[in-house]
Amino acid sequence: MKEKVLIFSGSGVSAESGLRTFRDMGGLWNEYAVEEVASPEGWTKNPELVLSFYNERRRAVLSAKPNEAHSAIARLEDFFDVVVVTQNIDDLHERAGSSIVIHLHGEILRARSSLDPNLTYQLDAPTLEIGDICEKGSQLRPDVVWFGEEVRFMREAEKHFANAEKIITVGTSLTVHPAAGLLKKAKFSSEKYIVSVDAMHPPYGHRFLRGSATTVVPHIVNCWIEGRKP
Ligand code: APR
Repeated sequence: MKEKVLIFSGSGVSAESGLRTFRDMGGLWNEYAVEEVASPEGWTKNPELVLSFYNERRRAVLSAKPNEAHSAIARLEDFFDVVVVTQNIDDLHERAGSSIVIHLHGEILRARSSLDPNLTYQLDAPTLEIGDICEKGSQLRPDVVWFGEEVRFMREAEKHFANAEKIITVGTSLTVHPAAGLLKKAKFSSEKYIVSVDAMHPPYGHRFLRGSATTVVPHIVNCWIEGRKP
């Protein structure tokens, strides 16, 4: 029986693939007002602005490549029973080869009916425009979770945190709930690391390893594969 490993990722794991984070220097929320581009109210007020915000990010995702952190995480699957729980809406974990990726905040490469949330579609075009409609005739929106909307798969994510023996939390400021609260669901006995370029106080028994995702994550992964502690 392979040991259970859980990877919990935020935008920092995709930063070295050239995708912008939110709260760092140059982050998206330094340039855009969250309520205007990532909330139901913003969508109602100015859907064109919201669509162009996500079109720009989708183009960036489509031209980005998975980095060494994504690849190391995918490599873990040869040795461990791995689940990735991500706050990210890009598909870099999947493109690196991770087979179980739970997107708490949705997926930018999917669209959804603005009337019926159960109607979702894989996007085959890089942009979503006004007039792109679902099969019931309503405007399509990005299939992402906006502020004020319900985060997805939380119960499933909590279960994975609770039964993981090893956990890496990488590239998240842990400022957005309920996602950030998942860390306290981890077993006391599990081996837990938190990786970030910015110093942070490691919560709930996690060991903080400061550095970039592409340096520190492969280091942890190689140690685990060799049966060593990082
Ligand atoms: N390697 C490791 N960590 C990094 C790197 C890197 N190359 N670059 C940035 N980081 C770290 C930053 O230090 C920061 O702690 O990644 C974190 C990014 O934090 P945020 O920008 O807040 O992104 P995230 O935590 O993913 O945001 C959570 O907020 O706006 C919502 O829905 C959005 O999913 C997002 C959620």
